Amino acid sequence: MSEVRFPDDFVFGAATSAYQIEGAWNEAGKGRSIWDTFSQTPGNVWNDISGDVAVDHYHRWREDIALMKEIGLDSYRFSLSWSRLLPEGTGRVNEEGVAFYSRLIDGLLEAGISPNVTLYHWDLPQALQDRGGWANRDIVDWFAEYAALVFDRFGDRVARWVTINEPIALWVGYGLGIFAPGIADERVGKQAMHHAMLAHGRAVEAFRASSAIGEIGIVLDIWARHPATDSPADRDLAVRDEDDGFRFFLDELFTGRPSARIVERLTASGIMPAILPGDERVVTAPIDFLGLNVYSRVVVSAEDYNPRWWEAADSHPGGNYLTNGMEYYPTALTDAVTMVKDDYGVTLPLFITENGISLPADAVVDGAVHDPERIDYLAGFLAEAGRAVAAGADIRGFYVWSLLDNYEWSASLSERYGLIHVDHSTQARTMKDSARWYADVIRNGRVAE
Ligand code: NOJ
Repeated sequence: MSEVRFPDDFVFGAATSAYQIEGAWNEAGKGRSIWDTFSQTPGNVWNDISGDVAVDHYHRWREDIALMKEIGLDSYRFSLSWSRLLPEGTGRVNEEGVAFYSRLIDGLLEAGISPNVTLYHWDLPQALQDRGGWANRDIVDWFAEYAALVFDRFGDRVARWVTINEPIALWVGYGLGIFAPGIADERVGKQAMHHAMLAHGRAVEAFRASSAIGEIGIVLDIWARHPATDSPADRDLAVRDEDDGFRFFLDELFTGRPSARIVERLTASGIMPAILPGDERVVTAPIDFLGLNVYSRVVVSAEDYNPRWWEAADSHPGGNYLTNGMEYYPTALTDAVTMVKDDYGVTLPLFITENGISLPADAVVDGAVHDPERIDYLAGFLAEAGRAVAAGADIRGFYVWSLLDNYEWSASLSERYGLIHVDHSTQARTMKDSARWYADVIRNGRVAE
């Protein structure tokens, strides 16, 4: 067993998002979001369980902050529900929504926990979807208005802001139809991806124009594609899947436009998004840090290709598989950090904004939840992060996904990612062994692996 130490100022955190935890979907003036509509529509999510209640954080936030404090988190990453603040997406402000997040932020600060706040974690106001949502270029102005409101009301108290979490979710929602709003149109999906990057850039501009303190960045999920064999077909597939997955966004952020390779392929398939003169300047608005969500890698094979790789366990020979079917591959973290530096020249501070594992069988037995597999998984990734820092990588912090078992989108309540177990019938919270283990890691500033 070896030990890896972290610098004193390394940020240890945990993450959630509004729709996945809040519930109270139509309380206190909140407007409907596309996820309310999607999850309430039969046939869209696991067992047709909507996120109406989720884990009731809207009513239990004080208890949840107390649990974060018990773990000793330095920072808590969460998102704002756009339709709780602006029920119609633009225009009228719901002051009750503002008051809720204001209390939450103040409660965190009182507990010594630094808020890391995401503006968009997938729950678009339904009123804006009714006007075309992310397919309509006007979204860029709508998002800028929302961002300006948020920076105005909360900008005095938040150390770090994230514009958009995993913009690839727009492809899944508009290109594949698996997420809200359930549109399966590839051309629309690609257009939505570009609009997301524009909206991101405009939010960064709104941030700079505001008097908010703190820093701003974006969060991308990096699933490196490795070819199963050395064959040209496998290698081409790996390149294409990375282009479709995360390189589109990295290209826009750091070079101003998708690569010539992407443009050529999307144009040939008739799904190249419209990019207007001037967009390059907006999407490259300088950010202060880059957030990377890293869980594993994907091994792709042309012979056995599954475009929905996340739905089926990829089981190439020699992989080290977790009980949930995902490959345990902590090197993914260092690979992601190296990739953004080598391929895009990124020298910005980095955060690992998500890493974690779902263990659906987690259960409370005699008041305890034993989840040794989560501890091993997190220890492996944390040690990887710590070693990368020691070798010179500028990783400033690490957020476990997730603080609580919560609502996993189309998989609704069938997954359990939490450090804290939630009984979905009583909403009772129970610290898992991994939460106690993480508390020790944070207290000692080191991880044993
Ligand atoms: C990515 C997303 O940001 C989050 O919402 C999701 O629950 C986790 N990863 C796990 O799938």
